Amino acid sequence: MAADGIIEREFRKKFPGSAALYEKAQKCFPSGVTHDGRFLKPFPIYIRRAEGSRKWDVDGNEIIDYWVGHGSLILGHRHPEVIAAVGRQLGCGTHFGACHELEIAWAKAVMRLMPSVEKIRFVNSGTEATLMGMRLARAFTGKPKLLKFQGHFHGWNDHAMHGVFPDFGKVLPCGVLPGVSENMVVIPANNPELLEETLKRDPDIGQVIIEPTGGGFTDVPVRPAFHKPLRDITRRLGVVLIYDEVITGFRVSPGGAQALYGVKPDLTCMAKILAGGFPGGALGGREDIMRLLAYGSDPEWNASRKMYHPGTYNANPVSAAAGVKTLELVSDGSACARADATGKALRDGLNAIIDNRGLPWAAYGLSSGYSMAMGGGGWSGRAADFPQFDISPEQLKSKNSAVIHKFRCAMLLGGVDTPGKHSWISAAHSEQDVAQTLAAFDRALDLMKSDGVL
Ligand SMILES: Cc1ncc(COP(=O)(O)O)c(C=O)c1O
Repeated sequence: MAADGIIEREFRKKFPGSAALYEKAQKCFPSGVTHDGRFLKPFPIYIRRAEGSRKWDVDGNEIIDYWVGHGSLILGHRHPEVIAAVGRQLGCGTHFGACHELEIAWAKAVMRLMPSVEKIRFVNSGTEATLMGMRLARAFTGKPKLLKFQGHFHGWNDHAMHGVFPDFGKVLPCGVLPGVSENMVVIPANNPELLEETLKRDPDIGQVIIEPTGGGFTDVPVRPAFHKPLRDITRRLGVVLIYDEVITGFRVSPGGAQALYGVKPDLTCMAKILAGGFPGGALGGREDIMRLLAYGSDPEWNASRKMYHPGTYNANPVSAAAGVKTLELVSDGSACARADATGKALRDGLNAIIDNRGLPWAAYGLSSGYSMAMGGGGWSGRAADFPQFDISPEQLKSKNSAVIHKFRCAMLLGGVDTPGKHSWISAAHSEQDVAQTLAAFDRALDLMKSDGVL
């Protein structure tokens, strides 16, 4: 593969302002970026503004955006009602260091959409939400071990980092203590017998956490039929079931995956859409578990009986304003349905191009997103019904980074910014966006062929 192939040459020509900024950024940040997912070779693009489904870079290029705030902007960029709500709040203050009315409205909005949430606490990110859920479940059950599923991502706290990448827990994640990993059990999803056997064999496992539609949203899919046995088994064995709805919450339906699949988890982790594109997260769930966060009748705080929960920006009023308005706007389901329809059109269109070329790739998934299998998985060609459940998590999660970097750059040359392996779609994406994206995809494949990457 030529390092300076046509894709890189054209990329450098189209994005000179970004190249110049990246020179400076490399002197500030490791690898020049502030989020590992934004790392791109030869350099990432720098964005100046965004609207709806589009964003504009520092060179003035207009780009269709499939990051949409890492999935937090289901309504698209700068939704006028969300912006107005945030503006009103900015006029009143950004941080009162005190309780405020909007935090109650925010909690009520979540509780209306997710009845499993009997009590809630706001945090600042999905990583904090899962950290809190895992610690709280440990405190409630008194059991040290946590079971998670291969390839499922729950943020980057110590426990969550275990079992995300294709070794699935065999290698200690960089910087994580061996003692943390010793208390993690990782198995594939979709196998109720294995789940039950594992939980019965190890009574130290007190909790199970799952990304309900699959690891990385849908990269390693969870069968809808797995949810009922998962709930039945965990309930029967007294194991706390945590749904990580950081991506799926308020996206796959207004009430998240738990509404879609009719399941009542014990605890739910939320972030992204919850805070309407601003920093924010939450943990909610069963009153008897959440009670461990309360002072109870004892006014003296006691570190062994109450789980301490500070956080400077918890329930920040600006995030609350964006969150309340966003949840109000998604509550009737029409925004989710619109984004879902675009997701289906995109998956179908991408697969038609893939089939036409006989490529061993596939666009798959559900709702308002798509995952992309880019060959190398040991399957040949995309069967009409892509056998997403019959391919191992290792194959689905594996990625050829060189191909992904080339693919992302080639798509950007066609005016489309996609994270590569999976993408998020908003209610603001249109039929025109889909048509333009498919044309960009077709051309990207030509370019990759010219560069010898395909
Ligand atoms: C399912 C899931 N859980 C947790 C997280 C972590 O959220 P955050 O990036 O807000 O820390 C993510 C982030 O993408 C996620 O997809």
